[in-house]
Amino acid sequence: MPTKVAIITGAARGIGYGIATCLARQGTQVVIADMNGESAREAAAQLAAATGVKTLGLACDITARPQVEALIRETLRQFGQIDILVNNAGICPFVDIMEMSEEMFKKTVDVNLHGAFHCTQLAAREMIQRGQGGRVIFITSLAANVTSAAQGDYAASKAGLHMLMKSFAIALGPKGITCNAIAPGMILTDMTRFHWEKPEPAAFVKQRVPVGRIGTPEDIGNAVVLLCAPEAAYINGVGLIVDGGHQAVCA
Ligand SMILES: NC(=O)c1ccc[n+]([C@@H]2O[C@H](COP(=O)([O-])OP(=O)(O)OC[C@H]3O[C@@H](n4cnc5c(N)ncnc54)[C@H](O)[C@@H]3O)[C@@H](O)[C@H]2O)c1
Repeated sequence: MPTKVAIITGAARGIGYGIATCLARQGTQVVIADMNGESAREAAAQLAAATGVKTLGLACDITARPQVEALIRETLRQFGQIDILVNNAGICPFVDIMEMSEEMFKKTVDVNLHGAFHCTQLAAREMIQRGQGGRVIFITSLAANVTSAAQGDYAASKAGLHMLMKSFAIALGPKGITCNAIAPGMILTDMTRFHWEKPEPAAFVKQRVPVGRIGTPEDIGNAVVLLCAPEAAYINGVGLIVDGGHQAVCA
């Protein structure tokens, strides 16, 4: 199979790095784009050493369209093509919606929603021009369906992201570019560690999640691999919940 090239946003750590790892294991060349450029370069070097595939770490704040344009340009200069985009970068401040400042609300929406808009539109234009199709994956959340007072901004942005995915799926399907969402459940990363490593929440996960454990970044990476497989060519415009069965449980 010809070598593929993937851009993964927010991939210097956490779920993004797990996705990068799983794609690289399949032989996919990986561009790790992250606001933290130094961490992106370190992560890319670490992944290249571990898998033997060509990688690149680039600084990119996805809320700044010129930086996303530069990311696409540099990817094409160094790899010549873009086959896969994973819109993974996201933030979740965990502040009660009644206490949240306007700036914080706007920031969450800017990163989680506008960032994915810039990346998808610009990467998809290149995919269309090349004419070989492509895959775009949006990392949403269970919070696109259920939420809490401390996740008002986050849930609104993720629900919006799910619908943005559907609009792109309709626009890009005729070009052979599929768009789908993955909604992770509870995944242990630096974003959530402060909570899930406390004894009570840790016990809750064991009891509540049918598979009996918290998710890992590679659980999400493996789902991305599935949706990027040639066999997934007819899957378009849908959300895949990857939560160990958590959402299937009634109260
Ligand atoms: N961890 C979970 O339980 C969980 C559950 C559901 C969904 N998610 C989603 O998965 C994605 C990754 O989450 P995570 O837990 O790995 O988070 P994380 O905080 O560990 O990592 C996020 C990465 O995104 C980068 N980033 C933040 N803002 C950026 C920007 N403007 N431009 C570019 N990069 C930026 C950060 O530097 C960081 O490397 C997010 O979209 C999150 O909403 C996570």
